[in-house]
Amino acid sequence: MNLFIIMLSAMRRAINKMTDQLRYDGRVVVVTGAGAGLGKAYALLFAERGASVVVNDLGGGRDGQGKSCNAADVVVNEIKLKGGKAIADYNSVVEGDKIIQTALENFGRIDVIVNNAGILRDKSFARISDTDWNLIFDVHVKGSFKTTQSAWPHFKKQNYGRIIMTSSNSGLYGNFGQANYSAAKMALVGLANTLAVEGANNNIHCNVIVPTAASRLTEDVLPPDLYAELRPELIAPVVVWMCHENCEENGIIIDSAAGWASKCHIVRGKGQLLRKKKSDLVTPEVVQNNWGPVTDMSEAEHLGSIQEATASLMGYLENLRDSSAVEKSSKGSIETIFNVTERDSIIYALGVGATVKREGDLKYLYESHEEFSALPTFGIIPGMVGLLSSDLVMSAVPGKTIELSRILHGEQYLELRKPMPSNGKLISHIRIADVLDKGKGAVILCDVETFDETGEQVVYEQISIFAVGNGNFNGKRNSDKEIPTVDPPKRKPDASVTEKTSRDQAAIYRLSGDLNPLHIDPQFSILGGFSVPILHGLCFLGFSARHVLLQYGGDDPTNFKAIKVRFTKPVIPGETLKTDMWQQGNRIHFQTSVVENGNVVLSGAYIDLHKVIASGNPVQHLTSAESLKSNSIFKAMQEQIKENVEKAKKINGVFLYIITKSGNAVSKWTVDLKKGEVYEGEPASNIKVDTTLTIDDQDMVDLVTGKLNPQVAFIKGKLKIKGNVMLTQKLQSLMTQAKL
Ligand code: NAI
Repeated sequence: MNLFIIMLSAMRRAINKMTDQLRYDGRVVVVTGAGAGLGKAYALLFAERGASVVVNDLGGGRDGQGKSCNAADVVVNEIKLKGGKAIADYNSVVEGDKIIQTALENFGRIDVIVNNAGILRDKSFARISDTDWNLIFDVHVKGSFKTTQSAWPHFKKQNYGRIIMTSSNSGLYGNFGQANYSAAKMALVGLANTLAVEGANNNIHCNVIVPTAASRLTEDVLPPDLYAELRPELIAPVVVWMCHENCEENGIIIDSAAGWASKCHIVRGKGQLLRKKKSDLVTPEVVQNNWGPVTDMSEAEHLGSIQEATASLMGYLENLRDSSAVEKSSKGSIETIFNVTERDSIIYALGVGATVKREGDLKYLYESHEEFSALPTFGIIPGMVGLLSSDLVMSAVPGKTIELSRILHGEQYLELRKPMPSNGKLISHIRIADVLDKGKGAVILCDVETFDETGEQVVYEQISIFAVGNGNFNGKRNSDKEIPTVDPPKRKPDASVTEKTSRDQAAIYRLSGDLNPLHIDPQFSILGGFSVPILHGLCFLGFSARHVLLQYGGDDPTNFKAIKVRFTKPVIPGETLKTDMWQQGNRIHFQTSVVENGNVVLSGAYIDLHKVIASGNPVQHLTSAESLKSNSIFKAMQEQIKENVEKAKKINGVFLYIITKSGNAVSKWTVDLKKGEVYEGEPASNIKVDTTLTIDDQDMVDLVTGKLNPQVAFIKGKLKIKGNVMLTQKLQSLMTQAKL
């Protein structure tokens, strides 16, 4: 080689290294079909940037016939003449493993493959022979497969590899006379897509080039003026960049010609659901009628992966779930379907505190019970689940989009037109009855009518949603469509029922369909402004409805007519609910409060019954689902004190027991000997507690059964006493006399 040229090349390389050039020093690049056209331009540029290049070319005709060493040799000589490193390879790409072998034998590694070799066998579709088809697929598809697959383990081992597949606009758009070629070129797009996915974790990137260049393949296709502008050298820099280690692209298609380049990708329109619910038939006529939106590309988007494509499809299918399918009607109302099962009915009953510990509750919990029935307030669920799965409320206030985090369940009304079924299909029609402007917020009245399969109406309910901060829209303040709350009579309650909720109450209740994380996720509840997850309002509504039914309805679900409540304060799972009741004809007014803090949580509430069957026991303390051993002691105490009221009153003290488990307070009981009452929870704020006793659940049992001596318990710190200690001794004597 001419000494001058060698010196010139060495100088050029030194200058290049000093600039910010994208370099390939130490990298080994295979370019297939590099004897002419685009491949040759690629090979020359890679070599110029320091790569060791395997110049592969079979040297045949443009239709794939024949072979010669000449094509590859000429390019290798040119590279070497310029001081670059190259080796010729004369194998056909269908034996791609041999080409990779050439790279490994001569340069010891492989970093980049440009699958470029190509031929044409253009014929109009009807005239394509098997040979025309097979040869095209062999060179383009099988050749790219064989060459790349041979390099793959090396790429994986070294955790690095760059691959180019060569496609064509004939594939992307179709071209007359190129059916075989178009098909093969699109096959390469599919191959690249999958290799991009499979190689991503090993830093193996696979991208596609769609070139348009002057070469022997296009000399009779492209107009002469254009042909002169389409130099392969203008595409080579695009490919060389796409193969560089700094290029992060993986799985993309770049169209390039004449010094221009652009990314192309496949997009998908928004599409159209052809059925609203699973039971709907999709007929050719349905498809025809929906063809406009099916083919509308105005909101088309590119999906980055098959997971994204599938996920969005799953999103559409969500709306088709059997239990709750939503259909928006032209009138702004929605129709939802709820397939009630016995299981749903039982889960709801457990959610609102029904327990096998109470004999009467078994009919709500055991599907083979002869009186098996759904709790009446289960009637709220179909409409509520339907409303939650729609965006009806979000757009109810004119000119505003309401955020989910800013809505509160304000009030609830439910009327059963016939007993709530425990299985079968229910169809709910939900509509906005009115929207009220309350200044600080908007009240959205949602009316729900639920029908069974025979078309008979089962439920009418009104769900009042308070949208905080969405008021002041110049709307009306009141509506005749609103079902009002009613205050109870101004006398002491006629009866009350207390019941402790379980720590798991919200976790169970949510299984009935309200999955708002506010009721289960501690972090989410903090964001919502509550220190711990709170109970669903509809859950403690269910508790109180059970209490009223038990106290005045003969615990007969068919006796229930309607319920109305206003939600006023939150309840924490584990707190004790007290439902105070006032009877007025068939209407039972009630108010629910939390025993532990005295907060009123349901107000202005009532239940209308078909007929009143009073229980006769004005104060009931129900065994909670989460029963403690000490509960039975207090129950027994209740009975004993009833029988010894006079003796008890002589003690003249009020005791508060705090029962603990593993050091945590789990229940509170008041032993009010001034009145002769024992009940779960703290006394009302106007009653002074004389002595507070804190003791573990089991120790309480041991104390009463004589296994634990009270003095020993006190000294050992197992029994903590605050306040008047002397009174405790009197209490002890009463208990001993009462055989407790
Ligand atoms: P070209 O004919 O100038 O170069 C192709 C090279 O591949 C030739 O040197 C040929 O000997 C070699 N080759 C053919 N069969 C081979 C085999 N079995 N094994 C090894 N080498 C083989 O064509 P051009 O235009 O440079 O094409 C390069 C690639 O770009 C081809 O895959 C082609 O389909 C593609 N392409 C070209 C376009 C253009 O406008 N030139 C448009 C779209 C795609």
